[in-house]
Amino acid sequence: MNQPEAVQQLRLPQHVAIIMDGNGRWAAQRGEPRAFGHRAGVRAARAVVRAAGNVGVEFLSLFAFSQENWGRPRSEVSLLMQLFLNTLRGELKELQRNNVRLRFLGTHDSFPDALQQEMRAAEQATAAKDGLKLNIAVGYGGQWDILNAAQQLAAQGTQITAEQMNQTLQTQGQPDPDLLIRTGGERRISNFMLWQMAYTELYFCDTLWPDFDRAALEDALAWFGGRDRRFGKLSAAGSACKS
Ligand code: FPP
Repeated sequence: MNQPEAVQQLRLPQHVAIIMDGNGRWAAQRGEPRAFGHRAGVRAARAVVRAAGNVGVEFLSLFAFSQENWGRPRSEVSLLMQLFLNTLRGELKELQRNNVRLRFLGTHDSFPDALQQEMRAAEQATAAKDGLKLNIAVGYGGQWDILNAAQQLAAQGTQITAEQMNQTLQTQGQPDPDLLIRTGGERRISNFMLWQMAYTELYFCDTLWPDFDRAALEDALAWFGGRDRRFGKLSAAGSACKS
């Protein structure tokens, strides 16, 4: 494992979730079309996946396409679909070599058939890998995830408990994100893992996604390492509640 000193000495988040925002603005700043920003966004995603695996993050969840993103112009949506397909085709071997297990979160029925097939094949091809667990949220919404899980449990006649929900949500069996990173300057969760983020530490930075690199990730990890996580209780230094 290849960890920079600042990260080595700190607690690492087991699960990092990222809202990758700012591709369009990054392109506009350069007088280029949005497609230029999305292609640069793919390069940033590749670098961050590699860096996260290297420093020892176990689970990484990238929000690549929300259900609300279907409302973007048709030309941008089809460009993104094509980009996802090309990226998946281009990266699969490298992901396999690096022992990455890939899982797609969301509902994919409206995606082009070729992309759906490629996604299923990539999940199957990496299912037994035991390195970084990489979730790509595409066609995903946090409210949909909760509703979908509740509806599945209700249809099965299973009692709806927190434990059952955790086993049925798209992240089933995975730990909740410890750290959410959102790039691009906005300070909101935008319908990402709403259930799973109840106690997630939120890190917002102004860096536009294509500029987010290994050093930026290390800054976020170092910030996380300094957080005092209480999960609604008192810090370790505080006294326990006496009745
Ligand atoms: C965010 O910028 C971009 C998206 C939500 C689109 C998809 C993400 C990528 C292409 C990055 C690569 C990801 C993978 C996993 C292949 P924006 O368009 O919202 O930018 P803006 O807020 O500046 O308009």
